Amino acid sequence: MIVYLDGEYLPRAEARVSVEDRGFLFGDGVYEVIRACDGGLFTAREHLDRLQEGMRGLEIEAGDAASPDTLLEIAATLLERNDRTEGNATVYVQVTRGAATRTHCFPPGGCRPTVYLSTARFAHPPGLHKKGAGVITLPDLRWARCNLKTVNLLPNVIAKQRAVEANATEALLVRDGVVTEGASTNVFAVVDGELITYPACHYILDGITRRVVLGMAREMGIPARETPIRMEELFRVDELFLTGTTTDVMPVVRIDEKPVADGQPGAITLRLQAGLNERISAAGGVRA
Ligand code: PDD
Repeated sequence: MIVYLDGEYLPRAEARVSVEDRGFLFGDGVYEVIRACDGGLFTAREHLDRLQEGMRGLEIEAGDAASPDTLLEIAATLLERNDRTEGNATVYVQVTRGAATRTHCFPPGGCRPTVYLSTARFAHPPGLHKKGAGVITLPDLRWARCNLKTVNLLPNVIAKQRAVEANATEALLVRDGVVTEGASTNVFAVVDGELITYPACHYILDGITRRVVLGMAREMGIPARETPIRMEELFRVDELFLTGTTTDVMPVVRIDEKPVADGQPGAITLRLQAGLNERISAAGGVRA
């Protein structure tokens, strides 16, 4: 397995990051996960533009070392060098502020950002996309800048662990009586034929898959509204699904052990799922 670290391609076992790296000490960095199909990257520009926005948000200046063009080239090289130009894979990209003597404030002398990319083979859990997943609900304990995709993921990690312990796939996070998003996904409901999802603001990550799904809904003539799903509505929705780079469109058929509608994946969900699968496959072999 070959990874990229600060200008070098090297075996993963030889990649070394300083113990003073602020990603390690403070979670001071941003990341992206990009989907690859047959060597083509799906919505890579959108992911890398979001990474830039995240770096701006954290005031990390990496210049050309982490520009979208540089990262696209590295991602394509990693797919080739790791023999991942066929089938499904993910590319992981992380940029931290870099290594410096520990101080909470930004290092007074500045530091060089750490740029890391890796790739992995990817497969969905068998059957789950057809039969649908179970979720739990938990309080959303995160900070108020969830729009930045930072590596500071502890609340998400704990929420996902609680879901796994409950035999569920995801935890829906609830803030002020409404569902914001999942621990690593966005959440959509269908109510009376209309698609509903939390508005893109500082309380959620504006998922790239979320944006693709909203675009598809527009094309398919499915009405969509960016408005919160209230907890009291959640158990009365007609359909519910999750979206994300490693989740695609995942039907939700069970919330806290109660069935969603008739306990089967909904028709609109399945249409959007098929539409997204087609788009991801179409990325196959197309260099971004
Ligand atoms: N997570 N919300 C959160 C909190 C996420 O972490 C993610 C993605 C999403 C979906 O975003 P997108 O459609 O751009 O992947 C929503 C990635 C996959 C992860 O952390 O591994």
